[in-house]
Order: sequence, then C-alpha cells, then structure tokens
Amino acid sequence: MAQALDHSKWQIALQIEAIINQMIPEGGDRVRTEDVYNTIERPKEPKMGDYACPCFRFAKAVRKKPPELASAICEGLLADGGAWIEHAETVGPFLNLKVKLATLSKYLFSEVQSGEYFKKIAVQSEKPKVMIEYSQPNTHKVFHVGHMRNVALGDGLGRLYEYCGYPVVMANYIGDEGAHIAKCLWYIQKHNLKTPEQGQGEWLGEIYSKACILLEDASAEEKAKYQEEVSEVLRAIESKKGETFDFWQTSRQWSIDDFKDIYSWVGARFDHWFSESEVSEESQKIVEEFLDKGVFVEDDGAIGIDLKDDKLGFVILRKRDGNTLYATKDLALARRKYSEFEIIKSIYVVASEQNLHFKQVFKTLEKMGFEQAKDCYHLSYGMVVLPDGKMSSRKGNVITFKELKQALTVEMEKKLEKYQGEWTAEEIADTNHKLCVGAIRYGMICSDPVKDIVFNIQDWTSFEGNTGPYLMYAYARTKSIMTKAQDQGLEANPEFHHLLKEDDERELLRFLNDFNNAVLQSCEGNRLSSLAHFLFDMCKTYNRMLSNVSILKADSDDLKRARLALLDTFATTLKTGLEILGINTPERM
Ligand code: ARG
Repeated sequence: MAQALDHSKWQIALQIEAIINQMIPEGGDRVRTEDVYNTIERPKEPKMGDYACPCFRFAKAVRKKPPELASAICEGLLADGGAWIEHAETVGPFLNLKVKLATLSKYLFSEVQSGEYFKKIAVQSEKPKVMIEYSQPNTHKVFHVGHMRNVALGDGLGRLYEYCGYPVVMANYIGDEGAHIAKCLWYIQKHNLKTPEQGQGEWLGEIYSKACILLEDASAEEKAKYQEEVSEVLRAIESKKGETFDFWQTSRQWSIDDFKDIYSWVGARFDHWFSESEVSEESQKIVEEFLDKGVFVEDDGAIGIDLKDDKLGFVILRKRDGNTLYATKDLALARRKYSEFEIIKSIYVVASEQNLHFKQVFKTLEKMGFEQAKDCYHLSYGMVVLPDGKMSSRKGNVITFKELKQALTVEMEKKLEKYQGEWTAEEIADTNHKLCVGAIRYGMICSDPVKDIVFNIQDWTSFEGNTGPYLMYAYARTKSIMTKAQDQGLEANPEFHHLLKEDDERELLRFLNDFNNAVLQSCEGNRLSSLAHFLFDMCKTYNRMLSNVSILKADSDDLKRARLALLDTFATTLKTGLEILGINTPERM
C-alpha cells in the first residue's frame, strides 16, 4: 500500500503491527501493516471511539485467545504512548481506540491547507483512461427537466473520476437522425411554417410535439397518408442532398446551439461530440461484415443477431427496408470510442428504460469478438417525476429547460431579495445562478440513481433539509464567521490546534479525515449519491458544532484561532466536495 487514505489509521496500524510482531514466536509469519489497516474499523457510533480493531484475525499467529491479544495490544499501546493514540480500551476481543486530536488536527490542517490532501487518491496509482458518455439529447426535441438528471449524473461522475486521477473524456452522442426528425420537418413543410427569428431550437421541440399529436389523432386513412409523407421526408434527408437535407443540417444546428447554451449554464463539459448520423454508414458495414462471418443472421428479409440463449431475444440490426437501427449504431459507436480515444473503460449514462438495449448491445459486441465489451458499463438511472405524476408531452406537463431555469431563478430571487442595495446587481445575479445550479444538480444526484425521483422546486431550493442550498449555505456561513473574525483582528491559526478538545470538534475532524475515503467509495460504486450523503452528514455535524461551541466568543483568542483553523479546513473540504458534484458555491450569502 503506497499511500493509505486514512493517515491516522495507518499510523495506528503501524503501532499495532509492531506490537503483534514482537509477540510472534520465532519462525512465525509476521503480520503486515496492510492487514492491520484493513482490519481496523470505523465504529458507527462516535461514542465507541474513533477506531475499533477486532483481534480474531491475528490471535492464532501469536498463540493467544483474541481477548488476550486485545489486552496485550492495549497495554502495549498505553505503555508506548506515541503521537496518535489518546486512549485505548478493550471490550472482549475488540480494541477500541481514540485518536489524539492534537495530532490529527495538526496533520489535517496542514495537508488541507497545502492542497496535498486532495491529491491523495490521484497519486495512489496510475489510472486508465475512461470515457463518460452522457446527456445524448435528440435534436428537434425539447430539452426538459428529466434530461437534467442525466447531465447532473454524467458531468458529476466525470468530475469524480478526475478527482480520483483518471484521465477522462466527456462525450456527447446526439440523436440527430430517424423518424422523430422526419416528423418534425414534415410538419413544418406541410404547414409551410416560417422559422422564428429567435428560439429556433425550442420551436423545433414544440413542432415535434404537434406533429406527434397530429399523427396520433389522425384517422386510419389519414395516418397511412401522413406516414408515407414522413417516410418521404426521411428518404430526402438520407439522400444527403436537396432542400430537405439542407434544412435538416440547419435545424440540427439550432438544437445543438441550444444544448450548448444549456450546458454552459449548468457548467457541464464535453470534450467530444458524437452523433448518430456520423456512425450510420459504419453500422451498415458492420452488418455486412458480421453477416459474412456468420455472427449475424437473416430473418425474413431483416438481419439480426440471435441472443435467445442469453435470454436477450432476437435483436434486429437491419430492417427489411435496408435501414440500420439504434442498436446497430451503438455497435459502430462503441468501436469508434475505443479506436479513436485509447480508452480502457467506457461508461454510458442512460435512463433505465434502456437497460435491455444495453444488455443486447454489449452482448452483441462480445459475440462480434470485441474484447472491450466487458469494459463497457451502463450507468442506469430512474425517472424524474413531477409531484402530480409522470411527465408526458401529450398531457402538456413537461417542464422544459427554459421553464425550469425561469422558475428556479424566480425562487432564488425571493431568497436573495434581502441583499438588494447591499450587494451589486452582478453579485446578486451570480449568486442566484450558482444557487439555481446547486439546487438542481444536488436534487438530481442526492438520491440513489436507480430510484425515480420527484422534482419539487420548493423542496429542492430550500435552505433546509438535504438540499444543495443547505450545503452551500454552510460554506457561506463559515466564510462570514471568518470575515467577522478578521474585522476583529483575528486569523485562523493552525498552530493552536492542540486547544481543540470538544467532542463536537472531534466529530467534525473525523468527517474531514474520512473525506477521501468517501470520495473513493463513491467513485468505485459509480454512486455520486453516496458522496452527497457524506457531505450532507458532514454539514449537519458542522452546524451542530456551531450551536454547541462558540467561535468568536471562545474563552481565549488562541482558542478562537484554533477553531477558525478548523472552520477554514472544513470550508475548503466542503468546497472541494461540492465541486466534485459540479456545484460552484458563492463566497457569501
Ligand atoms: N439519444 C438517445 C435517446 O434519447 C440516448 C442515447 C444513449 N446513448 C447510446 N450510446 N445509445 O434515447
């Protein structure tokens, strides 16, 4: 183990290891620090101490019963003293330990201040290159609140991987061909609609919904006629020339420009943009190639792959009319990702409705002999529902991005009204924006991704409860205490760390010490929600500390300085954690 993430636990493990090894009879196998480190646990209840070491595992090596060994180690630790242990006691075979707060705080203050602390995971080992594909909206369709969950999860995941030292390629995959586009363009042509001067992207989305309604409500006779007209538009686009094709290109760009504005507002990054139209041709070639190889088979004029033995059915890859499908394009896309970007792992952030689709795609890739299929991972997530039920464009209860942004901004304006006159208009607008993004991002990621979530603007924008603004406020509150201190001529001073002795301080330090482990776990499980929970719990502990422990009214100036150093360390850690979630938090509120 090159670098243990929990430094205090490592130091304690070193001490315990030395004591155990002294007891091992000549010729016996020595224990390793890693083994001790991995055995030591964090008790859930802070009352039980900071660490607990169950001694079963090492008892045999020293030819003692576990409780005996626990007592022997305990005696050794108490006699030895050392920099890290404040207290040790045994409960049967368990050794319960309390860390020396002065040593821990000294260590954390300096590591966090220098920034070394936040590099620890990244420097542990060299990490392979990862591609995270997310967002993937369809052009000519409206971008709504449901799409924001994907953006928050995908962009957040990228930040999480980067914090942990992975080189990351953030990719988009635009759905820019197929029936939905033909329907939209068909409706425009049919009604000879003039394109508006502004907001064209959104206009396309509205037109698409209207086209769907027209088609759905049509009589059987009309429907057949309309469908033929739509197919004609589709063929015109595919012909790659002529007026319809030109308009497809122009209108496609309107949607993309809209998407870019949205990403810029929420601060989402993309390094590369793929599109369905770009892999279409390649998907045809794949069909030919693997039909020849006998991996794909013909079935009633269509071509597909038989995955019935894998309980994934028969997957059609080319229809009788010669067109490839969504799944076929994914085969081409997967190959392209690996061949062009030298990635080792490929993550797809896509809603759970497509669980079967990805199982089929990855299995097909495997049957094609594409070795990297095993390193393709679908990060599936549940739906965003509204308090009154599922969103449906038919029912007209979709919240578009524009409406979402507007509603959030108005909500935050109410909360920031008190700063009118005191702050500049720019600062108010900037804070408003940060709070809106924080509220929406946090709301989208704080629940387990597999679960459906209810979008509730009142709850999500509240400064109380498990929300983005609650966490952001904890940061601003700290900064405001630090500013007040400065006005009184007081600065944080880590030199006085040894004055911190309260249980509330200990609990907060424990959170600060566990930050990297929480991030790593979140990354390993692809669960941003677990990091969000950790930060929420840390903030609750912090706020409790503030109500129990005085900062600026502490007994001595030196104690004030020590506590300010703790606040400073907390603020830096929280800010870093929020940044991983994609939340840029204001300095004051
Ligand atoms: N554009 C697709 C949709 O809206 C999602 C694409 C997901 N990514 C993929 N590689 N299939 O359903």
